[in-house]
This record gives sequence, C-alpha cells and structure tokens, in this order.
Amino acid sequence: MCGIIGVYGDNAISNVFSGLKSLEYRGYDSWGIAFPAANSIAVEKDVGQIGKVNEILNPDSDMAIGHTRWATHGNVSKINAHPHLSNNRKIAVVHNGIVENHDNLKQKLEDEGFAFESSTDTEIIPNLIEFYMRKDLGFQEAFRRTLLDIKGSYAIVAFLDGFKGIYGARNGSPLVLGVGDKSFFLASDVPAFLERTNQVVYLDDGEMVVGDGGYKIFDTQKNFSEGQVQKRVDKINWSVEASRKGSFEHFMLKEIFEQKETILKAVIQGDEKISKATEMIKSAKGVFFVGCGTSYHACVSSSYAFSHLARMHVNVCLASEFSNYKSFINENTLVVAVSQSGETADLIEAVKAAQKKKAKVISVVNVMGSTLMRLSDESILMNSGPEICVLSTKSYTAQLAILLLLAYSVSGKLGEGKVAVERAAKEIPLIIDANVDSMKGLAKRLKDSKDFFILGRDLAFPSALEAALKIKEVSYIHAEGFAGGELKHGTIALIEEGVPVVVFVTDSTRDLILGNAQEVKSRGAFLIGVDSRENKLFDYLVKVPSLGFADPISMIIPMQILAYYLALEKGLDPDKPRNLAKSVTVK
Ligand code: M6R
Repeated sequence: MCGIIGVYGDNAISNVFSGLKSLEYRGYDSWGIAFPAANSIAVEKDVGQIGKVNEILNPDSDMAIGHTRWATHGNVSKINAHPHLSNNRKIAVVHNGIVENHDNLKQKLEDEGFAFESSTDTEIIPNLIEFYMRKDLGFQEAFRRTLLDIKGSYAIVAFLDGFKGIYGARNGSPLVLGVGDKSFFLASDVPAFLERTNQVVYLDDGEMVVGDGGYKIFDTQKNFSEGQVQKRVDKINWSVEASRKGSFEHFMLKEIFEQKETILKAVIQGDEKISKATEMIKSAKGVFFVGCGTSYHACVSSSYAFSHLARMHVNVCLASEFSNYKSFINENTLVVAVSQSGETADLIEAVKAAQKKKAKVISVVNVMGSTLMRLSDESILMNSGPEICVLSTKSYTAQLAILLLLAYSVSGKLGEGKVAVERAAKEIPLIIDANVDSMKGLAKRLKDSKDFFILGRDLAFPSALEAALKIKEVSYIHAEGFAGGELKHGTIALIEEGVPVVVFVTDSTRDLILGNAQEVKSRGAFLIGVDSRENKLFDYLVKVPSLGFADPISMIIPMQILAYYLALEKGLDPDKPRNLAKSVTVK
C-alpha cells in the first residue's frame, strides 16, 4: 500500500509525476512530490488523487521523489501527505510501510530538540537521518544507521539537498530498481517506469541502493567497504500498452475484456512447471492452498476441482488465518500460495511461517520478481500482464485456469485440462458480447438495491463469494455469497420483495440450486439466473455456456461486468474504490 518513486536523470519531475499516476492503484488518499529547487527542497502535495492533477508547474530537475498514499498512521490531510522533510529542510523522504517503533524513535528525537509537523510514522525517518548527520556522519552512513534503527516494514526513497543521488532501501515492502540509459528509477512497481526502461533489478529485504546515473547496492547490515552486492539485471516483457487504458474508459473494463488472452497466456507456459508442481503436490503429506480476497476464492474453487478431478483432499486457508494451523505444518507440507501482486503482507507472513516449519512453497503469482516469487521453492507465473484496476478480474480467471490445470494434471489428465481451459477462454468474448448491454441495463435497474445475495453450490459456491466481493468493493452495495443450502440457515430472513438474488446454475447442481432459487423466489426475491438454459423461475437470465469444471471461469465474467456498471450507475470510479489499495502490504 502506498506507491513510492524516485528518479535520477533528465525530466525527473515529469517522470515522477507520470510514474505516480501509474502507482495510484496502491493508494490514492493523497499525493506529493519533492525535488531540489534554488537553495531548498520544493514540495508539492495535496489530498486526493494525483490522477486528477494536470501538471506540476516547475522547471524540471534531474532528481525527484514522489508518493501516493494509502493512509495508515495519521489521517488523510495535506500535512500528513508525503514527502516529509527533516527539521533542517535538507532531507526529503517517501515511505511505504509502517515504522513499528516510531513512538520510541520520536521520543528520542524530541529529547534532542526535533519537532514534528505531521502525525505520520514516516516523519521520524528524515529526522533520524538528520540526527546522525549532526553527529558528523555522511548522508549515506546516516541513512544506513537510520535503517538499522527502524523496526517494521519499509520501502524508502530519499535525497539530500545539494547532493547528487537518490537513495532507497527495502525491508518487507516492495522496491524495484529501473536501470535506464544515464537514468535511475526506484519504485514500488515496474509500471511506474516501464515507459522509460524495462531493465530491472529486484532489491531484497535488507538492501539499500544509491543511484546517480550509475547505481550501487549494499547490504545494510555491513559497512560500505565490504557490503556491496552484485545483482542480476532482468528484462521485463510487459508492454507499455499493457499498463495503459487504450480506448477503454477504465482499466476495469479493459482487464475484463483481456481475459480470453490472459487465460490462454496462463496455460501456455510449458508443461515443465505444471509437471514439477504436480509432483510436489502428489508427494506432499498435506497441501494448503492459501490466499487473500479474490486469490482466496480461487483457492476455494480449486479445492472442489481437486476433490472431483484428482480425488484429493486439499486444505484451503485464508492467509491471515494460516498461523492458527501451524501445528499441522511440517517438512512434508506443501503450501500453494496464490497472489496477483506477490506482495500481500498476510500471505508473505503465512509463507514465512510455513517455511520456518520447513514446508515447501509453490506460488501462483502474476508479478515477476515479487517477494512471494522470490520466497517460493517453485513459481508458476500467471502471465496476465499488469493488472491496474484495484479489483482483481483477469488475475482471478488466470488463477482459476492454472489451479484447474493442476487438478487435471494431478489426476493424470493434463491434456484434457488444457482443452477445457482453452475452450473456456474462447467463450469469453462471446459471453462479453452477449452480456455487456444487458448487464448495463440490469445495473440501471438494481443500482439502488441495498443488498445482493448470490447463491451457488459446489464449484459455483466460490464463484458466488467472488461475485459478491466484486459487487460490494466497487459499488458499495452490500453483497453476500452463499452455498445454496446455507441461506435458509439464517440469512433467508433478509429476503423480501424485490431483493436481488443471483443463482449460479451448473449442470451438476441444477436440481438442488433451483430448489434454493424457488425458496427465495417465493419470498419475493428478484431472481437473476446465471445459467446455460432458460427457466421460467428467473426474472432475468444471464446466459453462459455450460463448461463443466471450467464453469467458474465463464460464470464470473457477467458478474464482473455487472459490478462495473453498478459502479458507473452510482457515479463511482471503478478503478479506485474508496478505502482500498491494490497491493495490501500491511497486516
Ligand atoms: O495481490 P493478491 O492477489 O495477493 O491480493 C489479494 C487481495 O487483496 C485481492 O484479491 C483483493 O481482494 C482484490 N481487491 C479483489 O478484487
């Protein structure tokens, strides 16, 4: 959460400004940019989205840093917006993470006469650097000492007025180095500088970097004379267009439309990875599928596929709850960690807890070089390209596709699995074409609903959970997904005249789920059937093909579109729902 960027090189301010716009999905409570000006550091900052700011009216500079905030410590206000400056106004810092010992450090600095303007934890960082510089340390060593004092997670970018160079460091929050021709970028994520360079170096926790045309990376725990680290430069194969909206009004719609291609890319990745993962799953004694939010729903979906196809029990666990199962984890356990970003704090913590017990980890992850990928014994990349909208859409169907392939592969039918997934991918444009206009109409009709209920059984149950998440996070309408049989155990009390209820009908669950549909219909629900067949029971039919085990891939598409149009009907920005951030790097 929070996006940070630092640029050294020509047009640094403009590059920070456009980079921040690409990082806005990480938080959009406030934004800010700092750069050297005549004899001082200039800071431009404000509450709200940088996406709504046209330009910064300053002559450009060869050094600048910027931040887009998802507030943790301190309310959303201009004073709390980053960058923060030291008391002597010479050091500027942007930070993503949480300084857990900030109370102690603040007290120590106040005892030394430092004063604080904001209520953020970040403001102690530039002041701690100043504190060490007052003790005659150079900026680089003062920066390093500060890092050693901080407990908690951080990605930090900083510079000193009058000194050529941008400094960065990471510990638990993402920071990627972009290597340009005579320029240097540090950012929370690659899209922030992808237009300038696709050459990247992934920093590891406990590393700091200084960039001034060239760059040097150091192990923070060691002196500079012995702590320099050599790292590989990787080439990113995401296209610049992939991180732009193109002709679409919003990233959400663009990413929904991309799903045919992204699913195909997810499954065309050579059998070697799938075979390796298959062997690990088969030889493990206890498999846990772990994720958060949408990625968790993909895990739940896969547990049904493993049950039916591979006849294998797998555990499914929310990453934030995983530690409660640690007594079942040992060196024979396999954790399958599922994540778009690969940076989700709860998931990273779960993986580390599993590794402490010597469990093996396979990740299914979209962002190459992410923390999760680097922690894992094996990774299967989703190949979805950058997903910019805060809502997961294309990453969900890519996860479903990969996990379904794994289930087929464990059952010895990988070829059959590929055919099923490819067929589902090919149906997607048809499903979109058939539903786009009708979902727009349905959204118009239902935009003032207070609640939505979504029912599914078997493989369609996790689809109900995911559809509910999509609707509530983007339209702010309360939505709940249920296993069809479960509603009558309490929540049916909320069904009254006109309440929209979506039922996912699959061939294998038809009779039972239609029974549940009948129960809500007779209590006045407005019934929306997502089905391959007509049915008089439905007030509204959303027609989808019947695809067997690949049903979850096709069924979710119209619900993603409905969620999108509900947001538009309510005048909301679907790419940036309130209070959310794409990458949840706090616990
Ligand atoms: O990057 P991850 O897949 O680990 O993220 C997990 C969740 O934060 C994410 O799926 C979230 O629920 C999305 N906003 C859902 O649309």
